[in-house]
Amino acid sequence: MAALPASVPPTHPAVVITAIRQPLEITNLPTVPPGDGEVLIHVTWTSSSPLDLHRADGGLLVSTTPFPMGSSFAGTVVALGGRGRGGASSADSRLRVGDQVFGFAMDGSAEAAGAQTYVTQPTWRVSKLPPNLTLAEAVGVPTNLVTAFHAITADLGLELPWPVPQGWTPPRADELVLVWGAASSVGMYVLQVLRHWGYRNVLAVASGKHHDSLKALGAKECFDYRNAGVVDEILGYVERVKGRVANGPKLPSIVDCIGSKEGTLRPLTKIAEPGSNVAVMLPVINVHASEDQVPEYEMDVSKVLPGEWREGVDVKGTRTHFYARNEFFKEHLQAEIVPTLLEQGVVQPNKQRFVEGKTLLERAQNALNLLRSQAVSGEKLVWRVAEEED
Ligand SMILES: NC(=O)c1ccc[n+]([C@@H]2O[C@H](COP(=O)([O-])OP(=O)(O)OC[C@H]3O[C@@H](n4cnc5c(N)ncnc54)[C@H](OP(=O)(O)O)[C@@H]3O)[C@@H](O)[C@H]2O)c1
Repeated sequence: MAALPASVPPTHPAVVITAIRQPLEITNLPTVPPGDGEVLIHVTWTSSSPLDLHRADGGLLVSTTPFPMGSSFAGTVVALGGRGRGGASSADSRLRVGDQVFGFAMDGSAEAAGAQTYVTQPTWRVSKLPPNLTLAEAVGVPTNLVTAFHAITADLGLELPWPVPQGWTPPRADELVLVWGAASSVGMYVLQVLRHWGYRNVLAVASGKHHDSLKALGAKECFDYRNAGVVDEILGYVERVKGRVANGPKLPSIVDCIGSKEGTLRPLTKIAEPGSNVAVMLPVINVHASEDQVPEYEMDVSKVLPGEWREGVDVKGTRTHFYARNEFFKEHLQAEIVPTLLEQGVVQPNKQRFVEGKTLLERAQNALNLLRSQAVSGEKLVWRVAEEED
């Protein structure tokens, strides 16, 4: 294990949940020297995810407190650990002290959660900042871009080979894919990934104000979930273009980017047909948090609306925290694929909304309050962690 550089403090501030539905707090955590295959990063930016709210207000999978927050980090490498057992990996040899980097972190981890001024990360979770982006632009990308890859491959079974073979067309390129909640952060990355890999009949469900921008990200047709007749509009469209899949369902693949029992799952029970695969972002939100309302979540999708799905619909709960079970993605997704797609302009970062506050704690609390009031629409909340730039 490397020693800490003299300029790095032995402890540093971290945003933590200490009790459910109580104000967030700052605690000092030890700065952990990087071990084999790890790097120490000074964190200047993080971004919020609805998971922060599910944790803080619903105690979702919070087994102990204080619980360090933050699923993303962006900052500067300040120390490198060893090269990892079995020799140098490609990820290790990419990184140098002084590099600007970003990544999808494991919240709850005392050394890796993103909302603290120093994080110690395994190198496979670290992307180098491409020259065309700032850290503040990049920090909101990896969590949900990784989610898009995981849901499309692990849950829907669609192929995303890397690198994309020259002249490759997916065997299922013409099949319909329905992305419900396409203006969410997850949804916007799902659209961009499907477009790049050649899936050309992707339908998006989002508020009407987002339809033009979603078409620019690859949606073939858009539907407004705020219209009472949206289910019939989608079914009518699917019926008009049926016949794309030789012997299968007319709508084989559905991504529910929201996972709301009444807002998304109930309408999808009327749309999915035998043979449809439905990937649902967990947790299912039975009741959304608000100032006065304790939220209710469900991690087992089979317990939601049982008996209302048609026989033969395959509903899976997406859990991106397990994406590294795919060894190829573990090695290549954050180290190589994410920064390459950003550098090539294949994937555009979500629009950022900067959350202000005089202190780290104030910014963290303000961001959580915005999530609770459901004020996020077509954007990502981004906020400073360390006050000083490197
Ligand atoms: N389990 C996992 O692996 C995993 C990974 C990532 C995210 N998630 C979960 O997925 C959910 C979405 O995350 P996110 O970061 O993408 O959220 P987000 O960007 O904060 O979501 C906000 C968007 O949700 C849309 N929305 C809300 N209700 C909707 C409905 N009934 N139909 C269609 N769109 C609706 C709104 O669209 P309009 O602006 O069009 O109104 C808004 O733009 C969260 O609950 C998160 O925890 C799970």
